[in-house]
Amino acid sequence: MNASVLSLRGISKSYGAVRALVDVDLEIRPHEVVAVIGDNGAGKSTLAGVISGALVPDSGQVLLDGQPVSLSTPAAARSHGIAAVFQDGALCANLDVVENIFLGQEVTRAVLLDEVAMEKQAWTLLGQLAARVPSVRIPVGALSGGQRQAVAIARSLLGEPRVLVLDEPTSALGITQTAEVLSLIERLRERGHGVVLISHSMADVQAVADRIVVLRLGRVNGEFDAASTSYEDLIAAVTGATSGVPRRGGPGAGAPRPADGTGRVRADVPGSTDAPRRPDAREVIP
Ligand SMILES: Nc1ncnc2c1ncn2[C@@H]1O[C@H](COP(=O)(O)OP(=O)(O)OP(=O)(O)O)[C@@H](O)[C@H]1O
Ligand SMILES: [Mg+2]
Repeated sequence: MNASVLSLRGISKSYGAVRALVDVDLEIRPHEVVAVIGDNGAGKSTLAGVISGALVPDSGQVLLDGQPVSLSTPAAARSHGIAAVFQDGALCANLDVVENIFLGQEVTRAVLLDEVAMEKQAWTLLGQLAARVPSVRIPVGALSGGQRQAVAIARSLLGEPRVLVLDEPTSALGITQTAEVLSLIERLRERGHGVVLISHSMADVQAVADRIVVLRLGRVNGEFDAASTSYEDLIAAVTGATSGVPRRGGPGAGAPRPADGTGRVRADVPGSTDAPRRPDAREVIP
């Protein structure tokens, strides 16, 4: 198993009386997609904020290659090789693909923008993601949601980050576009990035994640090996039907079962069966 690039130890963060994160541990390794799932308000975006330097935790430690670091601003996180793509992607619809990728990070030669170099690098980055964009000189507003997500991810790859945090990258996308973004995530893993995938979609997570961490009410309520974990085990951890589930295969690991012993947590949820990997279906936790 690869050594962690980034480790979170005992991270807590409150907003006034709301304890958004409580004593959260998380390991992020190269060549691995770790998914973070949980119900609305579970603390997922707060965790993304802490990893990407947008939020400073109240307590706990962040280690980069085993050494304590302070990710007090997004720029500090970027300088440590951590980049994030937030839900809206923060793209400018009226600017073209190249302008969006390089916004604020323009390549200059003498005092002039080096358009040729930027255009070339834009194609290289999109090519690394195997993303299909008709032209890099059309406004981002004319692209599909999946293509826009590709541009946002390409933008985050400038500076060769080691860790990429994607907060709900497929939430606004249709089935085909979602499949495109999932394959982008696979490209990122192949290229050695450690990817933190925050998602509501069990199908997405089970399609691409190697490891799945469940947050519930700000705490880690289980960590699972994606290949050997069923949809119902995940739902049980998300809803709290099981708590403090050990990592599958780890010390003390047993098959966590829902409290009612039926082996089926939500009979009304489509796909609530033992079928583990269903990249074609999209189920969303209500
Ligand atoms: N800026 C803020 N001020 C006050 N409370 C906040 C703030 N941001 C988040 N919270 C609270 O912290 C908790 C965790 O929120 P967070 O956005 O991290 O959850 P989430 O898991 O990303 O939810 P969702 O699935 O809805 O995106 C929630 O109770 C939320 O109301
Ligand atoms: Mg969120």
